[in-house]
Amino acid sequence: MRLKALAAGTLLMAGAIAVSTASTAHAATIRYEAEAAPATCDGTIDSNHAGFSGSGFCNGRNATGAAAQFTVNTTTGGPASAVIRFANGTTTSRSASFIVNGTTIQTLSFEGTGAWTTWSSKIVNFNASAGNSTIRISPTSSGGLPNIDFLDFVVEGPPPPTNTLFVATNGNDGNPGTQAQPLLTIARAVTLAQPGTTIMIRGGTYSPSTNIQLTKN
Ligand code: GCU
Ligand code: CA
Repeated sequence: MRLKALAAGTLLMAGAIAVSTASTAHAATIRYEAEAAPATCDGTIDSNHAGFSGSGFCNGRNATGAAAQFTVNTTTGGPASAVIRFANGTTTSRSASFIVNGTTIQTLSFEGTGAWTTWSSKIVNFNASAGNSTIRISPTSSGGLPNIDFLDFVVEGPPPPTNTLFVATNGNDGNPGTQAQPLLTIARAVTLAQPGTTIMIRGGTYSPSTNIQLTKN
């Protein structure tokens, strides 16, 4: 078993464990504006609600499947994040599938932001392949998408080894421990680890209440 992003000892003491990703060299974030080709918008490019970046935003048709699509590019694949900036001036959440190269990674819920001029963001973690990838944000109900401003894309590191369990501060110990569905606690990852497993701990602060013993090979 290997621990990444954390100095590994045989005993991790209870208390706050801060994992910083700042020292890890990674590529710069690239901003893909929803109004700029090769992005597509099944709707109109509008600019009537202030606070957007670039020259406008995608106002999708209020219909199931009326998607905003981005084409992102990376020379090296690996664990990546996409930050989607959006505004939803209604009081009803709008949900959408986050689809990478045809595979649904996650369903996102875009909650009301209070006003069409109030912009917020959602982050999605996934494993990016080298080259171009299409990222489609496709609404699952007739309300359609929120207004979509841009997608910020960054590859955070080299591809993880096979048999990697991911831990993240927004994870859940009922999850399988994949990058898209990470675990919440290091202790749970240690429990699930088998010989050859790598435990990847994403940035953040972890506060285990009991010591974590690494008693496996
Ligand atoms: C309003 C708003 C649009 C928005 C739309 C919607 O018309 O001005 O920007 O896209 O509502 O409900 O989707
Ligand atoms: Ca709309």
